[in-house]
Amino acid sequence: MRTSLIAGNWKMHGSRDANSRLIGGLLDGYDVRGGCDILVCPPFPYLAEVARLLNGSGILMGAQNCSTEESGAYTGEVAASMLGETGCKYVIVGHSERREIFGETDSTVARKFVAVQQAQLEPILCVGETLAQRDADETRLVIERQVNAVLDVAGVAAFARAVIAYEPVWAIGTGKTASPEQAQAVHALIRGMIAAKDDKIAGSIRLLYGGSVKAANAAQLLAMPDIDGGLIGGASLQAEEFLRICAAAKA
Ligand code: PGA
Repeated sequence: MRTSLIAGNWKMHGSRDANSRLIGGLLDGYDVRGGCDILVCPPFPYLAEVARLLNGSGILMGAQNCSTEESGAYTGEVAASMLGETGCKYVIVGHSERREIFGETDSTVARKFVAVQQAQLEPILCVGETLAQRDADETRLVIERQVNAVLDVAGVAAFARAVIAYEPVWAIGTGKTASPEQAQAVHALIRGMIAAKDDKIAGSIRLLYGGSVKAANAAQLLAMPDIDGGLIGGASLQAEEFLRICAAAKA
């Protein structure tokens, strides 16, 4: 069965002090036997130090973004292999903030997905529709386009080493969460897309839900059959709240 994954996306938040308090709180309350995988994704400059703080705890670390390229004259970019060397196991690709604010296209996202896997790390591919797209009944179309963009480039076999996060853009940081049924419907759609190409991979791939998840709504979302964890923004910045979400995950 799939082990749940609860991932904290810190976004552009943190400081050395705040990070060490947050990690301290996580280590104090974290139970290795809890049964779900826990991941924190700090901003780049803190990765090495967070890796040191987490060392041996069983809590994993990921990054929020990476370059499409392996190395070279790309001022300001960070290669996936470099993230691997700091101790990252996962890299988030295609977060809606990257797509919307920084203009990442489906094809950029697909290239990042491939770059992450080439560095032996696991991509967390984010997909999700805007409110206007949902209102226009385009949710299915958008999700299919975003997932197919990566399937076409990377092939279904690549999804044996990947996570997909469904994050409706209208639910991110807004306090509005998709209902468990709304989220489940999109998760089932995504799993079905993978199953149409490879049943076994569809059965093992972890599908996370993200968008205003907090301790108060986590249990209902995580109880849905195709929701295998969460990508948590705001609520991952408070140790106690984040651990309560982890405790709500299926073992
Ligand atoms: P949120 O963010 O939990 O603050 O809505 C989720 C995300 O952007 O990954």
